[in-house]
Amino acid sequence: MIGPQQAGEVLHTPSPVPFLHAFSFYLAALLLLMPGCQWFSEPAMHKPDPHSYSNPHETRVDSLHLTLKVDFDTQTLSGTADWFPVAGHAPSLILDTYGLDIHSVEGDGRALQFRLGAHDALLGQALEISLHQPTERVRIHYSTRKGARALQWLAASQTEGGQHPYLFTQSQSILARTWIPCMDSPGQRFRYTAEVDVPPGLLALMSAENPTETRADGRYTFRMDQPVPAYLMALAVGKLEFRPLGERTGVYAEPVMLDRAVYEFTDMEQMLATTESLYGPYVWGRYDVLVLPPSFPFGGMENPRLTFATPTIITGDRSLVSLIAHELAHSWSGNLVTNATWDDFWLNEGFTVYVEMRIMEALYGPDYAAMLSAIAYADVSEEVKSLTAGGQERKTRLAAHTRGEDPDDGVGPIAYDKGYHFLLLIEKTIGRVRWDAFLKSYFQKNAFKSMHTEGFLSRLDSLLSAEEERRIWVQEWVYGTGLPVNCPPPLSSRFAAVDSTLNSWRNGDSEALPTNLDAWSTHEWVYFLRRLDGQDSIGATELDRRYRITGTPNAEIGCVWYQWVIRFAPPYANQRTFTDALEAYMTRIGRRKFIMPIYKALKETGQADRALSIYEQARPNYHSVASHSVDALLGWKVD
Ligand code: BES
Ligand code: ZN
Repeated sequence: MIGPQQAGEVLHTPSPVPFLHAFSFYLAALLLLMPGCQWFSEPAMHKPDPHSYSNPHETRVDSLHLTLKVDFDTQTLSGTADWFPVAGHAPSLILDTYGLDIHSVEGDGRALQFRLGAHDALLGQALEISLHQPTERVRIHYSTRKGARALQWLAASQTEGGQHPYLFTQSQSILARTWIPCMDSPGQRFRYTAEVDVPPGLLALMSAENPTETRADGRYTFRMDQPVPAYLMALAVGKLEFRPLGERTGVYAEPVMLDRAVYEFTDMEQMLATTESLYGPYVWGRYDVLVLPPSFPFGGMENPRLTFATPTIITGDRSLVSLIAHELAHSWSGNLVTNATWDDFWLNEGFTVYVEMRIMEALYGPDYAAMLSAIAYADVSEEVKSLTAGGQERKTRLAAHTRGEDPDDGVGPIAYDKGYHFLLLIEKTIGRVRWDAFLKSYFQKNAFKSMHTEGFLSRLDSLLSAEEERRIWVQEWVYGTGLPVNCPPPLSSRFAAVDSTLNSWRNGDSEALPTNLDAWSTHEWVYFLRRLDGQDSIGATELDRRYRITGTPNAEIGCVWYQWVIRFAPPYANQRTFTDALEAYMTRIGRRKFIMPIYKALKETGQADRALSIYEQARPNYHSVASHSVDALLGWKVD
């Protein structure tokens, strides 16, 4: 059987005594963990990726050519994946696959032997291809099956326009293997080209150089000249149109959404210029955003050259554009310098939240950015509290241990907001001038490389003086649990104003409340609603009468509101208008971050049955990433 990469088995020179390598690896880890230890040298060997079967240290592949036919009737992709050149002396090339039908494999035109390993529910199957001699090109004829987890096939009725079907992929973290046989590890990069055939009238887009016009024959070609890891492979097909925003930026959306999207994202070109002035040139050419249908399971996904974004950030008042700043920031942190394994995920996300905040501050000022920062602080504090209470303290570490677990489960405030606060503390300790210079050169020197937590720590060690390291408590932040007490505290004057409004209202002064919903930004509303508790529940009717929050088109505000009403205002939660709005929300929106807490609120208030009946309606609209999480939460039996 071919197993996932184990410590000690993935060295440049295969060792006859793997145990020794495993031992020295653990010794290195132990030394790094020793309290007060200032020894940060990089590990002498590559750490294995516990989420990939592939053998990159024996056999390398540098580029991919895909030829795919997109068939909406059978909901399958079929065609070929060419990997080349295949270098190394190993007798085989091992790729990750999940649920793929492998029809045949050729090496330079001649049939090659292959076998598929045992199926693992998390990792799928290793595809082991025998190589008898140096091979220029390995061609795999394959197709996906119905249910391939990265793909969501939407019927016309599930789109905004309602006339044409839609397909999109979501490959992060380990779902690229469900539509491409590949080395599905963030530590492995490749360039790619693709030919994609779609039904006439639809536009196809990838994380690559993209067309701006629909082609009558439905035939598209793509190229991505910079090497990218597999989790950044992306494809979308739908009735889409393009509109430029600036010289290097633009937006793709369904025609009915396009005007609204253009209005919302008008600052994108400036965001790009700002980030370049902070952290060096944008190396990917264009930066465009594709607005997806509301079932997109994330807020955004940083597919190179083409961020995928949820339509729930289009609120009409540009109040959620920090999400664009975030995905754009990944063009440096993540896409350029990439977490080597999913255990190092905080390097992708913590850095990206930090850069996002800097972009937001530069564009909208410190008071605005302080609100986002305070929300990040509240999120991580709550997460630490709840993980600790649930006996899951080990999940509060930045350096994670995700072997055997789905890396998607680690998407949350620890990697993002604890990571961000750690970097903010460094900034505050050493000053922006030195910190920015460090970051700029970090991105430049490590461009197109992968980074382990230890690799970053060794670079950080050469930046900081011993005195600074003592003040920051680097080891505790990275390897310790919880939120260290030297965490910079949140300071937001705009939220302080919201607090005083809330106090006045609690003291009976309704006039203190804003006159209408537009008087506050989304962030102020979210902050306000999150502060409400059981005492305030008598105000549910008044708040809704004034602001009509139930049924609000602002999904971010809706998410907090629905949770609060469910948890604290049960009579109100049972009224027809509320239940109808809630069901509509849960069925339309598939963004995991929004739907999960609402299902959780229902479950934790003894309404698991109600949660299940809503879920039964909504589940067919969700992407597998979202339904996987909800299945587990509600104990849904998958047939
Ligand atoms: N890369 C992530 C999304 C992701 C992470 C997908 C891990 C799968 C596994 C993306 O950059 C992200 O962080 N999205 C956030 C938005 C952000 C503003 C915090 C989201 O989707 O909520
Ligand atoms: Zn991110």
